[in-house]
Amino acid sequence: MLYYTPMKALIPAAGHGTRFLPVTRVVPKEMLPVGSKPAIQLIVEEALAAGADEVVIVTSPEKEIIKGYFDGDPDLAARIRWAYQTEQKGLGHAVLQAADALAGETEPVLVLLGDALVSGEAPSAAMAAISRAHGGASVVGLERVPRERISRYGIVAGTPEDDRVLKLTDLVEKPQPENAPSDLAIAGRYLLHPDIFTLLASQTPGHGGEIQLTDSIRRLLAARPVYGYRYPGRRHDIGNPQGYLETLQAFA
Ligand code: G1P
Repeated sequence: MLYYTPMKALIPAAGHGTRFLPVTRVVPKEMLPVGSKPAIQLIVEEALAAGADEVVIVTSPEKEIIKGYFDGDPDLAARIRWAYQTEQKGLGHAVLQAADALAGETEPVLVLLGDALVSGEAPSAAMAAISRAHGGASVVGLERVPRERISRYGIVAGTPEDDRVLKLTDLVEKPQPENAPSDLAIAGRYLLHPDIFTLLASQTPGHGGEIQLTDSIRRLLAARPVYGYRYPGRRHDIGNPQGYLETLQAFA
């Protein structure tokens, strides 16, 4: 029988939802309904289905409604722990706020961005399988993006292993297209060696003056292998009205 140590998952959901005002003054974007469930529940379910036994949600004190929601479901609430980001200092800083909750972790941690839903095949389970096949390596979920959108994403370079998997050689956060190493963008899902927390703790601000997760993964790459998985599902950004409408259509 195969035995795997259960994964821990981490959902950064602390952003102020500025691209979706005014509704986000009272309803966090992660609580917007997709069918009868808030978006973040679908993400928690993706993490559990991929083999996570516990999910740390990093949120902000103004978004307690998220905790209130999960507290109403004892089965789900039992698997969720909470961490808080009180300053908007970037995605890397948000992930770092879960370091204490995940202290002592030796397995890669599944990071699912709280505003990214994926329709079609869920990427997390496939990423966990790729990680295991590579001795517990880190894996980053990827999608191809058109040139005009390259500067909105973390972009990777790598050596192809097959049609969907590549061994990364570099990552750069939000490059201009002429400086981008490829058209493969980081797309809302990561499985990261726990060394990422030590690296984030010493990470200097990068693009936009924020602590960038991409910059710490780049440093992780110097010591440990990181793979990319161009997943077949479609990523939807629920953090803006247009992306939300597309999400509803995709999940209808
Ligand atoms: C974040 C990451 C970026 C990634 C994107 C989509 O950017 O910093 O590397 O490509 O999510 O997963 P944000 O959308 O928060 O600006």
